[in-house]
Formats: sequence, C-alpha cells, structure tokens
Amino acid sequence: MITWLVRVLLRWPPLRRLFWRRWYQALTKRQQQSDFVFMNYGYRILDGSEVAPDLDEEHEPQRNWIQLYHHVASKANMTGKQVVEVGSGRGGGAAYLHRYLKPADMLGIDLASRAVDFSNRVHGADGLTYMQGDAEALPLEDASCDVVVNVESSHCYGSMPKFLAEVSRILRPGGYFCYADLRTVDGAAVLHRQLEGTGMTILHRGDLAENVLAALREDNAMKLDYIHEVAPKWLWEPLETFAGVEGSAIWRGLESGDTVYPHYLAQKPAA
Ligand SMILES: C[S@@+](CC[C@H](N)C(=O)[O-])C[C@H]1O[C@@H](n2cnc3c(N)ncnc32)[C@H](O)[C@@H]1O
Repeated sequence: MITWLVRVLLRWPPLRRLFWRRWYQALTKRQQQSDFVFMNYGYRILDGSEVAPDLDEEHEPQRNWIQLYHHVASKANMTGKQVVEVGSGRGGGAAYLHRYLKPADMLGIDLASRAVDFSNRVHGADGLTYMQGDAEALPLEDASCDVVVNVESSHCYGSMPKFLAEVSRILRPGGYFCYADLRTVDGAAVLHRQLEGTGMTILHRGDLAENVLAALREDNAMKLDYIHEVAPKWLWEPLETFAGVEGSAIWRGLESGDTVYPHYLAQKPAA
C-alpha cells in the first residue's frame, strides 16, 4: 500500500524531486559502508561480441554496476578530457571512469549533499572531485566540459527538458552526452522527442532492459543478503523495492516489457 502510494505521488514533479532528495540524503546518513558505492541496477553482457572491461580483483564484486557505466560511457573517448557526471550518487561510477577511462578531470555532481560528502571522503583523488548541484540548474559555466554522463538518475528530476537544456549549455561544441535510465514505454517515446528537441545529434540509441534484468537476476541473492545484514527489519521492504529484487515493480516491469531502459549517445554539433 505504501509503495503504491509513493508511486502515485511520484508522478507529480515537485513531489518527485523532494521525495528523491530526502530518500538519498537519508540513505547516505544511514548507510556509511564504503563498499556500497553504486546505486544502479547493473548491466550484464549478453552479446558475445561485447568486450567486458578488465577489472582489478577488488572491483570484481561490482562488475555489473561498473559494466553499466562502461557500456554507457566508453563510446565517448574521454581520455584527457573534462568529464562531468550528473547524479553521481555514492561516487563509484565517477571513480571507475576516472580510474579506467582516464579523463583529465572527472567531476561528479549530485543533489544529495551527504552523498557528495561521502563520495569525496571515499573516492576523492587528484582529478576526481564531487560537488553538490541540481541537474536542472548545473553550477557550471557554459561550454565548460567535453562529456556529460548520466546514469539512472533522470527519473528523479522534476523537468527532463530543463536538464537536457543544461547538458547542451555546459557541453563544448562537439561534446558528448552519455545517457541511460528507466522509463515506461510511453515515457521512452517522450524522452526520444525531448532529446531530438535539443538539437544534439543522436549517434547511438539502444534499450538495455534485457541486460539490466539479467544483472538483477545475477545479483539478487547478494542484494538480499546485504540488505538483511545491514538494515533493520522494518526497512527491508522499501530497500528491496528500491534495489529491484525479484518480484519488485522494477523487476516485473522489465520482465513484462512495460519498463524499458533507454540508452543514448548524443553529440552537440561542432561550432
Ligand atoms: C539511482 S541513484 C544513481 C546514482 C549513480 N548514478 C549510480 O549509478 O550509482 C540516482 C542519483 O541521482 C541523484 N539525483 C536525483 N535528483 C537529482 C538532481 N535534480 N540533480 C542531481 N542529482 C540528482 C540522487 O541523489 C541519486 O544519488
């Protein structure tokens, strides 16, 4: 009942923004474990021709979450570039991009200040920082970065067009936008029109739903064990829903095809 009510209320943009902001602030306050650094549903490689990223042994347990970033962001060559991630969460994605894809500067931006403090404490390094900011009013100069990465965050925003206008504004001419997130089937059609409306060139478009569902299946037992170990019993249900465990709305939506997972690589026209 509570989960259903939350889903209905989240359809209203101002409440959606407020809810997610509070949720991620509270989650970071409660969960300070430095091994919990990703909050996406993951990506399992299903196509034999796709090359899996080489990971250090210590990052193997995070493989599916990392692979989502790798799949979404590695098509834009970011070596030596200035890269911004919007919605960087607990910082694991930006830390992966910084460590393996070698941008000159990697900046993670998130609305939840506690997640930003956590990320700076756990991952902060030369060329890798995190700052608080809103996707709909990014605290950056016009034409100040080469690549914008956005992974499983935009469903929290009040206005997708405002966010896309901000992406276009902060990208240099020729810069890349690497994007992926959940949508309903109708929502994905709206998203496509919104992206076309930015004037950016869509270089690649895909649906990652099958890969995301395969990752959910693979990680299900591990997530349940983790939640049951670190959280009090009264929090199990909302955390399991949020984590997309077997039987959750996310899992069922991806399985039935009602939920899709659009991925785009777009490019701002050269000046
Ligand atoms: C599902 S988490 C994904 C985090 C990260 N991208 C990952 O894959 O681990 C969504 C993140 O988006 C952030 N977020 C929500 N609304 C935002 C906004 N308006 N501006 C910036 N970040 C926002 C949340 O605070 C949260 O950290």
